[in-house]
Amino acid sequence: MTDIYEKLLSKAKEISKNAYCPYSNFPVGACVLYESGNEYLGCNVENASYGLSICAERNAMSSAISAGEKTKIKAIAIYSPKQKMCLPCGACRQWLCEFAVDENIQIILEGKDEKISILKLKDIFPYGFKFDE
Ligand code: THU
Repeated sequence: MTDIYEKLLSKAKEISKNAYCPYSNFPVGACVLYESGNEYLGCNVENASYGLSICAERNAMSSAISAGEKTKIKAIAIYSPKQKMCLPCGACRQWLCEFAVDENIQIILEGKDEKISILKLKDIFPYGFKFDE
């Protein structure tokens, strides 16, 4: 199992190299794993009009939808070379809530000492907004 997480994290690491972040100089990469077994990658893309920048996580989830992915998210790995434990921002947490299998999905991060740290969505984003099913 750890092996799967390590692979997701190394893919997030690799895609962070493509980040377009001339304003913050804070590259981020994300790799999202779906129930189908498909994985999608994203990096952050900034803009001179700062507020238009988009995070790595939302780019990865947008790629999934654009590619026709119909299943739900099981796990996401997030990486920044600038910061250990690069947690998703509030907007990305709400996006994860939209597409997650459930609130137990795993958020995989590089912790201290290069060790993998795994959190659950429900612990970092309880009571997210959803329409009644
Ligand atoms: N960023 C992400 O891509 N994901 C996160 O989880 C946190 C922040 C980006 C947005 C911006 O381009 C840069 O990191 C600094 O905030």
